[in-house]
Amino acid sequence: MPGFQIRPLTPADKNWVSPVMVAEWGAEIVITHNEIFRPADLPGFAAFAGKELAGLVTYFIARNECEIITLNAWRQGQGMGAALIDATRQVAVRAGCIRLFLVTTNNNTHALHFYQKRGFIISAVRINAILESRKLKPQIPLQDEDGLPIRDEIELEMYL
Ligand SMILES: CC(C)(COP(=O)(O)OP(=O)(O)OC[C@H]1O[C@@H](n2cnc3c(N)ncnc32)[C@H](O)[C@@H]1OP(=O)(O)O)[C@@H](O)C(=O)NCCC(=O)NCCS
Repeated sequence: MPGFQIRPLTPADKNWVSPVMVAEWGAEIVITHNEIFRPADLPGFAAFAGKELAGLVTYFIARNECEIITLNAWRQGQGMGAALIDATRQVAVRAGCIRLFLVTTNNNTHALHFYQKRGFIISAVRINAILESRKLKPQIPLQDEDGLPIRDEIELEMYL
């Protein structure tokens, strides 16, 4: 038995999703491939360890494709990230999607490892894309905590 439970987000969750986005990703909005997403308005799943919020995924379905917009696991290495991806994949399949994909950045080597280990393959690399993202979201830092430049978008996909 995992030490957490997963449930779909409901409208009542909007109140806390926005501040969580600000804390984790610097703003209420997320930019991928030059599009603005507001995770508090998106469907998703939350993971709870007892009453404590321990993980969150949000996604967007359009044109037979499902994009993971945000994924966070605050208790890493317990299978929570994998469980949140799996819950999203099941929704995408039920919705008739043929592709599950997401965008991360060049510096996020942990995410690149995590997604590839779970069957995603790199489907696009957009060099310097974050220059454009920063025009829409100036809060995106130039470098991450390890000193790596945050510069390119890397898209990963899985056919369903
Ligand atoms: C990326 C992220 C979501 C991964 O979440 P996670 O919950 O740590 O992922 P998992 O626990 O499913 O897998 C991570 C490791 O834990 C281990 N693990 C998985 N299931 C486990 C279990 N049941 N018990 C113990 N360890 C387990 C595995 O060894 C796995 O390592 P592997 O990738 O080499 O196979 C998380 O690190 C995170 O929130 N990062 C910061 C935000 C971020 O970068 N998000 C992605 C942006 S696109």
